[in-house]
Amino acid sequence: MSTSSAPTGSAAINSVRLNSHLTTLGQIGRDEFGMQRVAFSRHDVDGRDYVSGLMRAAGMSVRIDPAGNIIGRSEGSDPSLPAIVLGSHTDTVPSGGQYDGALGVIAAIEVVEALRDGGQTPRHPVEVMVFTNEEGTSFHRWLLGSRAVAGLWEAEDFAAVADDGVTLTDTLPDIGGNISRIADARRRPEELACYLELHIEQGPTLHRGGFPIGVVTGITGRSVYHVDIVGEANHAGTTPMSLRRDAMSAAAQIALAVRRIAGEMEVCRVGTVGSMDVHPNAGNVIPGRVQMGVEFRDERMESLSAAEVELRRTAEEVAHAENVNITVTAQRNTPSVPISNNMQQLIADAAGMAGLEQVSLPSGAGHDAQAIAAITPAAMVFVPSVNGISHAPAEYSAPEDCANGAQVLLNALLLADGR
Ligand code: GLV
Ligand code: MN
Ligand code: MN
Repeated sequence: MSTSSAPTGSAAINSVRLNSHLTTLGQIGRDEFGMQRVAFSRHDVDGRDYVSGLMRAAGMSVRIDPAGNIIGRSEGSDPSLPAIVLGSHTDTVPSGGQYDGALGVIAAIEVVEALRDGGQTPRHPVEVMVFTNEEGTSFHRWLLGSRAVAGLWEAEDFAAVADDGVTLTDTLPDIGGNISRIADARRRPEELACYLELHIEQGPTLHRGGFPIGVVTGITGRSVYHVDIVGEANHAGTTPMSLRRDAMSAAAQIALAVRRIAGEMEVCRVGTVGSMDVHPNAGNVIPGRVQMGVEFRDERMESLSAAEVELRRTAEEVAHAENVNITVTAQRNTPSVPISNNMQQLIADAAGMAGLEQVSLPSGAGHDAQAIAAITPAAMVFVPSVNGISHAPAEYSAPEDCANGAQVLLNALLLADGR
């Protein structure tokens, strides 16, 4: 694809409207610790209601699919053509930021508004998809809505149970979904022309380099493990150090090993222990059990396999040294997803149309695009995250950068429409 197919009289993003909607969504579920729109929570439902209203105001028909995804649709001028899909998510991690996912959704709706303002009807229908539980904070099942659309649900999704014991089956109806009809959420490749997602980078490359636009070359792979350490709870004051079976001491060594595997050893790009449950979690009791969440990420799947070997080897060593039992269970292994050269070029051309400098970079975060790429050509546009901060309340992208990203999204849609 080249800019020679660039449409004339292209519509323009309304930056004030875009940023005002983004700010309003950013007030929904915000508290002193950040954004609390964890999927299926009351705040998530409020956020979903807000964006559904924006879709209707932009003239879209709105429906909820069996996975709880919100799908807004604006018909094109040629009813025989498949839909161009724009999407992202409005759920957040606990104490998350205002822009992760939200920008992609609000910008997608703004694209439809801007086309309407400009009196421009694309040939293709445009669908805006707001995907359920992208973060996977709830039920520990991420990309839940986008994987349903791509037909990638696994047995674990159907059987998912939240930490409080509630099942996904019982929870999906809260947002209009229905697990028994989940197969109906799946879209056939013939129904879709392509998928375009705008997202904040969530890393430092664009901000540091002064680039307004990033063209995503691929999305990282991720492997997630549950590590269960069972020692023996005992009195913190009376148990001699040599007789302890301290699950916390073992957990600390594993946490440092995860850092070493990705850090000094460079076995894979990054490794994180992001969660830990300590039992009984009392100051004067030696922890009898610790459960931790470990993840590794890399674009090369061989590196993720090597990191797993190293994690399991360390767990055996630590179990022996600390006289505890350690079970490492692989929970998820999400493959990396390359973005095709054609789709990268589409975004580069769209940035060129807007006169914006761009740089190519891989995504270290996961995105709904990686699931949707299984059924239709997908591309992603990144805009700078100030200081590379994300999944935290200090997450910030400047209004001008958000508007630039939305304009590139709009241009990419028009280029794809002209194919
Ligand atoms: C999703 O936000 C991720 O953890 O990459
Ligand atoms: Mn996101
Ligand atoms: Mn996120």
